[in-house]
Amino acid sequence: MTERYPTPCIPDALTLGTLFAPHLAEVCRRTEAALEACAYRDLIVHSGTQRPVFQDDRTYPFEVNAAFKVWVPLSDVPDCFIHFIPGRRPRLLLHQPTDYWYKPAPRPQAYWTEAFDIVPCADLRAARAALPGDLSHTAYLGEDSGGLAGASGLTLNPPRLIRHLDYPRAWKSPYELACLRAANRLGADGHRAAAQAFAAGGAEFDIEMAFLAACRQREQELPYNPIVALNDNGATLHYQMLEKHPPRAHRSLLIDAGAEFAGYASDITRTYAATPGEFADLVQAMDRLQQGLCTRVAAGIDWREIHRLAHERVAEVLRAADLITCSAETAVASGVTRVFLPHGIGHLLGLEVHDAGGLMRAPDGGDIDPPEDHPHLRLLRTLEPGFVVTMEPGIYFIEPLLAAARADARAPLIRWTHLEALRPYGGIRIEDDLAVTATGAENLTRDAFTLAGTAQ
Ligand code: GLY
Ligand code: MN
Ligand code: MN
Repeated sequence: MTERYPTPCIPDALTLGTLFAPHLAEVCRRTEAALEACAYRDLIVHSGTQRPVFQDDRTYPFEVNAAFKVWVPLSDVPDCFIHFIPGRRPRLLLHQPTDYWYKPAPRPQAYWTEAFDIVPCADLRAARAALPGDLSHTAYLGEDSGGLAGASGLTLNPPRLIRHLDYPRAWKSPYELACLRAANRLGADGHRAAAQAFAAGGAEFDIEMAFLAACRQREQELPYNPIVALNDNGATLHYQMLEKHPPRAHRSLLIDAGAEFAGYASDITRTYAATPGEFADLVQAMDRLQQGLCTRVAAGIDWREIHRLAHERVAEVLRAADLITCSAETAVASGVTRVFLPHGIGHLLGLEVHDAGGLMRAPDGGDIDPPEDHPHLRLLRTLEPGFVVTMEPGIYFIEPLLAAARADARAPLIRWTHLEALRPYGGIRIEDDLAVTATGAENLTRDAFTLAGTAQ
């Protein structure tokens, strides 16, 4: 985001600054409680390491440690540290090497910087010197950069402390909600441009470029690699190929792409049909199904119930589309719906696209048991106000899953001849981000599409 390309509805520095102070106070409070529960005096969090390519002088794109982004909205600064001692202002040890090959990170000046003591450190030795001499009661989160952790007697990534810090990340503060709204707004701009590129006959590559340009983000700045799948490529759930040539015919586009704002992610999927017809009708049916599921999101709901309900509704859509020969109940009970919808119905969203803590009963309470027939869900917690979740039902025509069903007792339950006509379209997923409230949910994504002035 720059002055030259202002995006309306992205919160300004004044608004963010007002929201950031109470947010940081809450981060400090949570951290203090976690340190006390786990008997540590203080906490060091490493931003991450810039990884070199084997026997080369280039590096891989930098990926920040999410535990660092909890503190500061910096996603592109390797080898920095947060140091927090309860009761004191947090410190940011900012890596500022003397370098003329690469430009060192400038000293940040933004709505959040006043809240930190920022200590420039030319190298790891300077960072070590800026930390207390005795680190025997210190917890350290992140990679052991240059041996700082190993050499200092501190405790590296204590699992119990990590659970105590991850568990409360599910509750988003007003500041975090503002950032997630902004990430959705940027994502909606990207999706609008991507839909236009699809309508113009673009290749997958062109569609992704349109998305990036509209968000004004490089791929490495996005919260995850976009999934831009034309036609039957939509049947690969995390399709990544990005063909540079357009296919002979444009039948469908499944695009799962989000933007990042101040370290927070949006995670948005839309599916488009190139022409009216049966697939377009199915997309509409899935959109109605998705919006129906969104209305069920509220505090007190067990997420596993939403997942089960999604399968019941998908079974009804399959039945109405004449893709199954059995009743909707039988399609769920026999596992036929899992052939078409093999992933979870959503997950927590925040600093990470699959945000931390989705399976926890409590910091010290172990994890919640998944349903036997859906063992790989990413979210099992009962919803509470402040949680942000995705809602992402889908129907896909996935070759290996169909082949397995054709070879077992499910074979007679699927209308194979009819299915053949839809396979070249790949699949459908519709995904929004929802902030849970006491009485329902705010749909961050639909609101963002409305603000972007585009179809949902
Ligand atoms: N974009 C990854 C997901 O939807 O979970
Ligand atoms: Mn998702
Ligand atoms: Mn997604």
